Amino acid sequence: MASHFHHLTVKEIKKETLNTVSIIFNIPETITSEFKYEAGQYLTLKATINGEDIRRSYSISSYTSTDQELQVSCKMIEGGRMSTFLFKELGVDDTLEVMAPMGNFTLDAVNKPLVLFAAGSGITPIISILKKALTEGNNTVNLYYGNRAEEEVIFKSELTELREKYTDRLLVQHFLSSNGERLDSNRTQSLVSGLGDAKSTSNYFVCGPEGMISAVKSGLETSSINANQINIEYFASPKAEKAISETVVSGKVGDIIAEIDGEVHNITMESGESILDAANRIGIDPPFSCQSGVCTTCKCKVMSGTVEMENNFGLGEDEEEEGFVLACISKPTSAGVKVSWDED
Ligand code: FES
Repeated sequence: MASHFHHLTVKEIKKETLNTVSIIFNIPETITSEFKYEAGQYLTLKATINGEDIRRSYSISSYTSTDQELQVSCKMIEGGRMSTFLFKELGVDDTLEVMAPMGNFTLDAVNKPLVLFAAGSGITPIISILKKALTEGNNTVNLYYGNRAEEEVIFKSELTELREKYTDRLLVQHFLSSNGERLDSNRTQSLVSGLGDAKSTSNYFVCGPEGMISAVKSGLETSSINANQINIEYFASPKAEKAISETVVSGKVGDIIAEIDGEVHNITMESGESILDAANRIGIDPPFSCQSGVCTTCKCKVMSGTVEMENNFGLGEDEEEEGFVLACISKPTSAGVKVSWDED
């Protein structure tokens, strides 16, 4: 079935830094199974702000293997409507519309050595993964965390407490650009070379702004780290390498069938529209958030026909092989396209 929003009340709001808050939700017993999550996943939040329906995805920053406390963290962005609303207006006991956890930036091999690179609010899914590895695994965890200045370090005291608790397994190294320390490609190479034998057996997770991700990725690749050891989470779509082509042409190619919640809808695509745009235009309300091929909230399955997807940064290869596409960056390229949001 397609994902739906649930009304969750806010249990607690914690101020993490001058411009970052963590929001903890109450989960009603009737939907606890839907809100079970993996470390590294995210929630899509919906709020009506000045009469407009705004959706944004925020990474889960909590992780406990027992009570599954659910917390997301959000950094206020200048001009960001949702982040400003969450930071300045949201209060305890308020209700937000929240979609069940999603995302593939998750840790399976808890007993392998783990190397984490984070910058700024990119620490959010990374700290969740770090807590899972420390509580459920038995190997070393190295966190390299970049920020502009010390007062911007999110989860500073929590990281210090974890370091004190897991002295023999956890290394946390901060890099402050105000001191000239950057997580660039050269720094990444030297950090990786310091790992010794663990270099080839570690799993690497990277999250932060686009420039930091591409620098760290290039450092890892230059250090001969295999692509299957590297996991990357983008918060925004990296610049497109090629312009989105206008694949919707006149005639039958633009006629598609969309299935959602067991209902079937015929849609005639308009020029330049993605499948998500077209579904929203006719009001069938498929799930979505980022609208740029990153968050995977809009994932649907191609049941027949062919679809072209541009700049996918969210779906895994296995999901693509199974026929899943991201509706927000997909357009039909043949007649007889049928997509379904009811397939898992
Ligand atoms: S809405 Fe985020 S990937 Fe499509």
